[in-house]
Amino acid sequence: MNVTKGRQLYEGKAKKVFETDDPELYIVEYKDDATAFNGQKRGTIVGKGVINNKITNIMMTYLMEKDIPTHFVKELSDRETLVKKVEIIPLEVIVRNRATGSFVKRFGAPDGMEFETPVVEFSYKNDELGDPPINTSQALALKLATADEIKEIKKYALAINAAMRSFFLNIGVELVDFKLEFGRLPGGGIVLADEISPDTCRFWDVKTKEKLDKDRFRQNLGGVEDAYNEMLSRVVNKAL
Ligand code: TMP
Repeated sequence: MNVTKGRQLYEGKAKKVFETDDPELYIVEYKDDATAFNGQKRGTIVGKGVINNKITNIMMTYLMEKDIPTHFVKELSDRETLVKKVEIIPLEVIVRNRATGSFVKRFGAPDGMEFETPVVEFSYKNDELGDPPINTSQALALKLATADEIKEIKKYALAINAAMRSFFLNIGVELVDFKLEFGRLPGGGIVLADEISPDTCRFWDVKTKEKLDKDRFRQNLGGVEDAYNEMLSRVVNKAL
């Protein structure tokens, strides 16, 4: 399958999206730019784009094998991937297996508290508003998605959590929490979109509890690139 990269449609904080000569396909290009706290903290994580592209594509392929539909089509280069054109549903879907991050800030739970049942949350994907938390009835009132879509998104999010927890446990990594985005295909139907990477997941080493994700950047812990490279090598070795 040969496609030609066309006009840039969009530039986000971590990725760019391009049209192609196929109206049903886009190219995403991963950048090394890193932001946190809604863009207030900015920096570069050298090699991040290459790492997040690779990890995302391995995870999307793994999830497709588990019957989760995704936008993934084909890796084109170190930083570029061909994906199905979708309309992104403006909901950030967060799944948590332990309390940390904003859950601790908002609810005062002890950091690291393990949940018996995974927590599913939504945020309204809107940079101007700072991605505020939103509940199902608010999302319905704003017509961000239909009731059936929200039901399906929740079902997929929990299935993705179960599949990914076991994948990462196999490489000595605990999946603490993560954020997903879903898209609508032009012909209807919901698919997993965006990325699955150390930018969008919290990964803790099972033995040492060391953070192997973007929290090292958010919290100025140092060793950011080392953590991303460690995740890449574990994920690639498992996939081989
Ligand atoms: P939080 O604890 O800050 O709400 O983050 C929950 C998860 O979502 C965590 O794995 C990091 C991820 N995340 C994103 O991917 N993008 C974001 O903008 C934020 C705030 C969190």
